[in-house]
Amino acid sequence: MLENKNILIGITGGIAAYKICTLIRLYKKSGANVRVILTPNALNFVTKLTLQTLSNNEVYVDNFDVDNFKPEHISLCDEADIFVIAPATANTISKIANGICDNLLTTTACAFNKPILLAPAMNTNMWNNNFIQENLEKLKNTGYHIVNPGTGFLACGTTGEGRMAEVEDIYDSTVKIFSRKQILKGKKILITAGGTKEMIDPVRYISNCSSGKMGIALADCAYNMGAEVTLVSTFKANKPYKNLVTESAIEMEKAVKENIVNQDCVIMAAAVADYRVKEPAKEKMKKGEKDSLTIELVKNPDILQEISGKGVLAVGFCAESENLIENAKEKIQKKGCDYLVANDISRKDIGFSSDMNEVYILDKKLNITHFERDTKQNIAQRILEKVFEQV
Ligand code: PMT
Repeated sequence: MLENKNILIGITGGIAAYKICTLIRLYKKSGANVRVILTPNALNFVTKLTLQTLSNNEVYVDNFDVDNFKPEHISLCDEADIFVIAPATANTISKIANGICDNLLTTTACAFNKPILLAPAMNTNMWNNNFIQENLEKLKNTGYHIVNPGTGFLACGTTGEGRMAEVEDIYDSTVKIFSRKQILKGKKILITAGGTKEMIDPVRYISNCSSGKMGIALADCAYNMGAEVTLVSTFKANKPYKNLVTESAIEMEKAVKENIVNQDCVIMAAAVADYRVKEPAKEKMKKGEKDSLTIELVKNPDILQEISGKGVLAVGFCAESENLIENAKEKIQKKGCDYLVANDISRKDIGFSSDMNEVYILDKKLNITHFERDTKQNIAQRILEKVFEQV
């Protein structure tokens, strides 16, 4: 799996740095080409000479070697297929999560647009620190791969969580990243996510319970399967792919239509409002004397219906609280899309805002495929595999 892969290893200043010598051996044995960057602090734990000998390559520490200056953070990025940062200290994790580039390793991480795998290692209290967990969460949500630390005896003398994962586990995680089928390489996919907002006045709006998780899971998965992804969402997503932020159904329609040229597929996972306020008030509406208030709504364009049957593979979602399959059959025929993914939004354990989903995919001939309850990430992968099985 790793034959001829270019693996860039980043070693930061933690005692587990010595274990990376074994990791380099494992990568080299399976045919990978390995390069190593160290933070200046890592040099306190391992020597350049050891790493140079094991990797059979030059080892890099600083990007400000004025006698022999090369923008190494760019050339190393271009060459590598993956960046494995192990051990990843609390300090380096936090710097990367906040875009700080104060050494060659953090600068390279900032410029790296391919998979990054982090193997955190630190004292238990540091691992449990809220800021560190928040920074890790931020990185995870941005698409970083994390091999969580294990529990055990730590070099600082305590026992607890924070010990770097075994090098064999880091190796296996690397293999897993490469083994993801790149079946969408060369495909362009536009995905919508989130609930649209229809303004009533400058401070109030009509919306729905969509969190955007399903759309994000699809976009992340499509990206990891090699697709060029455009995400049109009702919130900003910090992702390595293109993200256009829209608010109302009308804005989403414009963004989808303006970006549909050359797309192979559009997946409408967003919960788009069927109606909008006819005349949103320009100023904040005042509470009047009357006990009731009537707001007139007008129909929104149906984006899915408008793009279906025009040459791009159109995939819609169908959110129902009753008669899921009957309504889905009716909806796919009405909207004319190629596939419709039906989910039951009356259930609390799937659908809106949940991390899980269970779906039925209908095709134009009304064949139905059922995917049992699973994480939205796994459901996303199955949807993409199904939709692209014959493309
Ligand atoms: O975001 P999460 O919290 O993760 O929840 C996921 C989800 C439940 C929102 C998602 O799985 C889902 O079902 N999305 C579609 C919600 C929806 O609007 O369903 P619908 O049955 O009302 O619409 C059918 C399809 O037409 C959808 O693809 C929708 O994007 C599209 N549509 C609807 C109205 C409209 N004016 N234009 C549209 O394009």
